[in-house]
Amino acid sequence: MTDPKLLLERNRAWAERMVGEDQGFFSRLAGQQAPRFLWIGCADSRVPANVIAGLDPGEVFVHRNVANVFSHTDLNALTVLEYAVSVLEVEHIIVCGHYGCGGVGAALDQRGHGLIDNWLRHIKDVAAKHDDILAALPESERADRLAELNAIEQTRNVCYTSIVQEAWARGKPLTVRAWIYGLGDGLLRDLNFVVRGPDELDPAYRLSLDPGARER
Ligand code: CO
Repeated sequence: MTDPKLLLERNRAWAERMVGEDQGFFSRLAGQQAPRFLWIGCADSRVPANVIAGLDPGEVFVHRNVANVFSHTDLNALTVLEYAVSVLEVEHIIVCGHYGCGGVGAALDQRGHGLIDNWLRHIKDVAAKHDDILAALPESERADRLAELNAIEQTRNVCYTSIVQEAWARGKPLTVRAWIYGLGDGLLRDLNFVVRGPDELDPAYRLSLDPGARER
């Protein structure tokens, strides 16, 4: 698929099919969006949130960047989070990493990659923090384990934002969790890090790092 004109044709066929299945689909969506989920994931073309989670337009609010980083000073990510929590009132936030992530792999090799190295610092920080876990693994397994650890740490960053902390303080039901996706089998896996309030944050974090508690 290389010709953009084909995308327009496919779009028309898709829109017709959607209306064929549900006549009011677009008019209803045009009125308002009411997604129940915020998805924070990697920009990788193989990890489209709607498709892999089986969701229609309108069902998930999405923020994606290289290697699903949630930095405390990223105004773009913070704006998405604020809108999702305060305006859309989503009740579930999912931070989803993926195995075979190019950004995570680049953070582990010792080569220079130009401008993106500044972004990859966030992931290198995660690697340095968990050096004991990574160093104990064979080299071939380190990138995928770092992809898991990165998803967990970025989820933790989301939990520590003033946005999520204040939502919890107001008693809003809001659950934040970390998942990871397998490019090779198309399956999402729970990383066993689920946080429903500030009291759960530290115990859930410790549990997510416990190798005995990990689901693979
Ligand atoms: Co990636």
